[in-house]
Order: sequence, then structure tokens, then C-alpha cells
Amino acid sequence: KPPSHRGRSFKRPRPTWVEVSDDESRGRRRHPKVNGVSTSMPNGVHKPSKKPNGFVNGTTVVHMEDSADVAVPRVPVATSSKHAAIQEQRANLPIARGKEALLNEFREHDVTVLLGETGSGKTTQVPQYLLESGMAGDGMIAVTQPRRVAATSLSARVATEQNSSLGSVVGYAVRFDERSSPATRIKYLTDGMIFRELMSDPLLSKYSIIIVDEAHERSLRTDLLIANLKTIQQQRNEPAKGKGKEKEKEKLKIIIMSATLDAEKFGKFFPGSKIIYVQGRQHPVTIYHCAQSQVDYVDSALRTFFQIHTDQPPGDVLIFLPGQEDIESLEKSIRLYANQLPHGQQEVLICTMYASQAPGQNAKVFHSTPPNTRKCILATNIAETSITIPGVKYVIDTGKCKEKRYLAKNTGGGFDTLMTRDITKSSAMQRAGRAGREGPGFCFRLYTEDSFKNMATSAEPEILRCGLTSPMLQLKCLGQSLETLDLMDRPDIDSMISALKTLYLIGALDSTGEITEIGRDMAAFPLEPVYSRAVLASKEYGCTNEVLTVISVLSASSKVFVESSEQRDAVAEARRKFKHASGDHLTILNVVRAYNDVALSENKSGRREWCRKHFLNERALLEAIDIREQLQHTCERLGIDWKVSCGEKEDPVIQSLGHGLVSNTAFLQPDGSYKQTMGHSAVKIHPSSTLCDKKVPTIVYDEVVYTNQIYARGVSIINKSFLAGLGSLKVRQA
Ligand code: CDP
Ligand code: MG
Repeated sequence: KPPSHRGRSFKRPRPTWVEVSDDESRGRRRHPKVNGVSTSMPNGVHKPSKKPNGFVNGTTVVHMEDSADVAVPRVPVATSSKHAAIQEQRANLPIARGKEALLNEFREHDVTVLLGETGSGKTTQVPQYLLESGMAGDGMIAVTQPRRVAATSLSARVATEQNSSLGSVVGYAVRFDERSSPATRIKYLTDGMIFRELMSDPLLSKYSIIIVDEAHERSLRTDLLIANLKTIQQQRNEPAKGKGKEKEKEKLKIIIMSATLDAEKFGKFFPGSKIIYVQGRQHPVTIYHCAQSQVDYVDSALRTFFQIHTDQPPGDVLIFLPGQEDIESLEKSIRLYANQLPHGQQEVLICTMYASQAPGQNAKVFHSTPPNTRKCILATNIAETSITIPGVKYVIDTGKCKEKRYLAKNTGGGFDTLMTRDITKSSAMQRAGRAGREGPGFCFRLYTEDSFKNMATSAEPEILRCGLTSPMLQLKCLGQSLETLDLMDRPDIDSMISALKTLYLIGALDSTGEITEIGRDMAAFPLEPVYSRAVLASKEYGCTNEVLTVISVLSASSKVFVESSEQRDAVAEARRKFKHASGDHLTILNVVRAYNDVALSENKSGRREWCRKHFLNERALLEAIDIREQLQHTCERLGIDWKVSCGEKEDPVIQSLGHGLVSNTAFLQPDGSYKQTMGHSAVKIHPSSTLCDKKVPTIVYDEVVYTNQIYARGVSIINKSFLAGLGSLKVRQA
């Protein structure tokens, strides 16, 4: 009996595939028939010609095959066969043959833009080449990443390649977590972390080489970093004037690395820089589009996976999904069906990869696939360019990703929201390319060819679509301003004004736009300014202990409450135990307190079971405990006693939060909706809130979710008189 999925029979008509039209018939090659459609080599994904089009003058293509210096990797004597195997793998990477040619270019230029296909070895090899060549001198080599999961997992890999433990020669630093030591020479860090280091070391003097990786993503911090690096390099590399005795500043080398070929902008931004292209190993990938658009991409991905699994020769499958929720839901469905496959069929091994997943879990995708098994990797766009997963022959592309977007207009204070949206053409090509790393591959796009043609070419830089409160405060601390910084792209005036307003409302800036003392303290916390404001306020209210707990949970990368549409009643029942009459923030506090109590008496599996039973995400709780510890350190540095507690009182906690979340307050209207104090929009309490069916006079909330209307999520009742105090702020603001 065919298994049913979401109440429908599995044997529904399969998606019909059409091959991508092949305008350039160049390189046409016959491929086996797939689903009755004969296939040919698509345009777009193919081995690039030696000199790619659209390159600026002066682009060097490092021809690996022609390279005179065939790689003889200088590697330490292998101590074990595993280490020897890793060194062999290193020497076989496309980039290895161009090693000497690359090092020569790096030696000769202060700024190099290195382009190369994903998987060619840029991120893992270039830092090691530089270290082994001695080019870094006494300084460190920094490699920046837009995502923390890339920074941690790549540093682990490189540490292994260096035959050392993580945190010694190779280390990492991401928000709330660092592993390094005085011996560290190569440090992988998020762009946000290195930007933060500017505050204590404005010339980044401990680094002699800074590699800005994944520059094509144009993340907000990467853009701010690039702007700063330009001036830092001018200061560090200019010949020392005047007093000859002055210790010469160590020079800075900058390497910008990108997986896509649009280097022109970086080249122009750094006059005198050199653009180098490293040829990768890309096999042809046959691309199919759906004949009709699909209503449910998770469902469609499920069917496509089993089509591949039952009809196609061995080879791992990589499925791109927008986020953790979809990954978890698809994982469940695939597992369910895979268990019902007829005997003798290949096994299915599911691996997942997304930002908030525990590092150990992420590492599983790199393990080789056991015999008679097909690996199915469910990943977000982390697997697009940051991380290459070996063995992939089939890619299923849902065409969706999550993107942070700032909604400044009509929403009061303005807010960042994560929205699921269509990917760009550039992403689609990268995703397809993942199938052709080790041999010819296949990419199934769960969207029509017309949708592909309508996609934007490449993503808008984050700085143009994100909230600027936190970067603006950090820049103010550095004595810089967004308005005057030499940026590759300048954000629009509305977003800048909105950020200035928020910073003024929480007291980080004075009426002349200068940073205040309390503003500097806020910037010391690795938190959004609105949250650090709440921590600082808790000092006055005598409830730092409680506020730190709440803020830690709010800052964790995933939600602490697990939702389950199938077991809605059980979830509600479990949640009732923690419910606090004042709303969601004190409810969170109750959860953490209960978990800490359980942790005293239960072992690891007992704690896990307790969380499962109460529909709580233990990973989020553990992460929050970690974050809390980091925040305690910051408090100590600022002379705040984090042990001070208000006991069972709720007002101090909520009012502390209110000082930070000034823009996120609203009051009840006669029609039952809530109107924002600082804006003009109506908000509704999110169904997940403990207050969702309550009508209370005034609320404070920690975020908004934007669907067909604006929902407030994480809501507590706040004192009316407190809001009245804010009213006078509004007058001042006007
Ligand atoms: O940066 P780029 O995309 O050019 O390549 P990379 O990240 O340096 O990866 C080079 C190779 O190392 C890839 O083929 C990966 O599969 C492999 N690798 C691995 O086997 N295990 C890891 N944890 C990371 C990378
Ligand atoms: Mg890379």
C-alpha cells in the first residue's frame, strides 16, 4: 500500500520535467533519458572558458593545467594514514596546482581579489599556503565569514589538515564563542567579530593578512569591514614619515575571495588591486525545470527525491530549502517513506545542515556515504558557496531562501524580519553547480523556466535592506558615521533615520547625534542595542539576574518553544505549566528556571526527555545558558553585578525590557487591535503568545512577524504609566 503524505496518496502524478533550453548549442552532449525526457547539456553551468566574459582588464587566469609548477605540497611528514589521506586530498584540490603562482600574486599586490568556483579550495587552502610561505611574518591571518557555522566548521577542517587541535594553530571566533590561544596563526571569524575587534584595535594590528571570504554575499558587516580595511591599509602601508625611530607599522595585505565572477566592483573599490581567477573543476550539470509551478515546495521536494532514489543510479542528493522548519519537516517525511521502501532498495541516510544546528551534527555531512546507501543532504543556502559537500550528484532546488529584510515604512520603529523569498539567478546557478563537483550531475529545479528567467540577477547587498541600529552604534563608537564612510553601496536615508531615531529613543545618542556614555556601554555587549539597553536598565531596577536570562533566550539562534501542529493540545497542556500571567517574557524565565532545576537531578538523557515531553528545544536552552555566561563577563567588565535578583516580582523585569524595546510597545484600541506607540500601524498578538486571546491595555513585544498583517511575538503586559512616560519621549522625538 503506498504511504500517504499529508493525506494524499504518494502515487500522485509526478512533477513533469523539462530540460532547460540550450541557446548556446556549444558543448552539446547526450545524456541518458531521465523520466522519459532526453537531456542535453544546459547552458550556464559548464566549465568556464579560460578567460571568462565580463572581466575587467588585468584579470589573470591562473591556468592550473598549464601551470609550470606542479604542486609538490610542502607538508609535514605524515604521522598516520588518515593524515596522509588528508594531505593527498589537499594536493588534489584544483587550487593546489596554482599554489606558487597564487603566492607570487599575493606577494606582489597589497590587495588581491581571488575568484574561484566553490570547492576549489580557496577557504581552506589559501590561509595555509600563506602561513607555510611565511608571508604573514609574525602577524596572524584572519579569514572572515558571513556565517558562524562556516567559521566554526571550516576552522575545524583546517586544524585537522594542519594536524593540530582546534584552538591551537588554527582557531575561530564567533559571537558568544571563541577558540584560540596565543599560538593561533590562522583565525576564522565572522565578519561581525572582526568588526567588533576594531573597537579595541582600530588598525587591526595583530593581523598581517586579512582574507575577506564570501565577499559576493555582500553581508552588512563584510561591507563595513571592507570600507574600514581600505583606510586601515592606507594608514598601515604608507611609508613612515618623519621620526625614523618610530617603530614601523606592520603592513597589511588584503585578499578578497568570492565564488561568483562579479569582481569588477571590488577591483574598482581598491585601485591597484589585482584580480585573479582560479579555475575549478566543474563538470556539466543537466538542469531540469518543472513544467508547472509547484504549490508546495516541501511536498514537491519529497516526491522528486524519491523519483531520483528509485529511478536514478547511485549518487548523493542535496536539497536546498529556505530554513530549519522546512528541513525538519522534510526530514521527517523522507524518513517515514524511506522506512517503507521495498527490501533490497538502497538505504537512505539523511544529513542536515543549517546555521543553528549543533556543530557535531553539521560535521556528519562530510563523512563518506556507507555502501549501498544514498545520502540525502537537506541544507539551507549555507551549502551554496560556503561549504562544499562531497559526493553530490543530484541537486533539488526549491528556489527559496530566507532573507533578512528591514521594513522601515509604516511599521513604527522599523524592524528586521526574516522572509522566505525567491532566490536569485546567481544563487540558482551556484546551487546547480553543486551537482557537478565530482562528475556530471543533475539539478532539478522545483520552479518553471519562466520563474528562473524572472529572478533577480544577484542579491541586493544586505546594507541596503537591513536594520542599521547596531552597526550605526558601533560606528559611532569608532568615531565614524554611516553617512561619511567610504562604502561600496550606501543605504537609503529612511533606514538611516530610523536607526538614528531608535538609538536616540533608547538613549544611546543625544539630541545632537553624539554617542552617550550609556551608548558606549550598550556597544560593549554582543547584543542588539535594544537588548543591551534592557540589561543596562536592569541595573537600576535590581533585576539583572532575571533580565540576563530572558535576553539570552531571546538572543539564541532558535526558538525555545517547539511548535507541533499535529499535537497542538499536548503542546498547550505542556506550556500551561510555565505560563506566567504577565506574558511571554516571564514565561521564558519560568522555563529556564524549571530546566535548571531538572538539570540538578537528571542526567543528560533525563534532561533531553524532559525537554521532549515539554516541547522545549534543549539546544536553544543550552545555547542561551552559554550566551548568558558571555553576557555575565561583559557585565563584570562594566561593573554591573549580575547576581542581583528581584525574586518573583515581574514589573522590574518587564520595565527593563521596555527601556530597550521602546519602539515595540502598543496600546489597546476600542476595536480590540493594538496600535503602536511610536508608529501608526496596528499590530495583532501572535497566536503563539500566552496573551493571544487576552485584551490588555498596553503591551511590549520583542519582535514582529510580518505575514498578511503585523503580528507582535514575545509579548508581555506593561504598566500603563510606564508607557505614559514614553509618551513624553514621543513628544520630544517629534
Ligand atoms: O572555498 P572553496 O569553496 O573554494 O573550497 P573549500 O571550502 O576550501 O573546500 C575545499 C575542499 O575541502 C572541498 O572539496 C570540500 O569538500 C573539502 N572539505 C572537507 O572535506 N571537509 C570540510 N569540513 C571542509 C571542506
Ligand atoms: Mg569558500
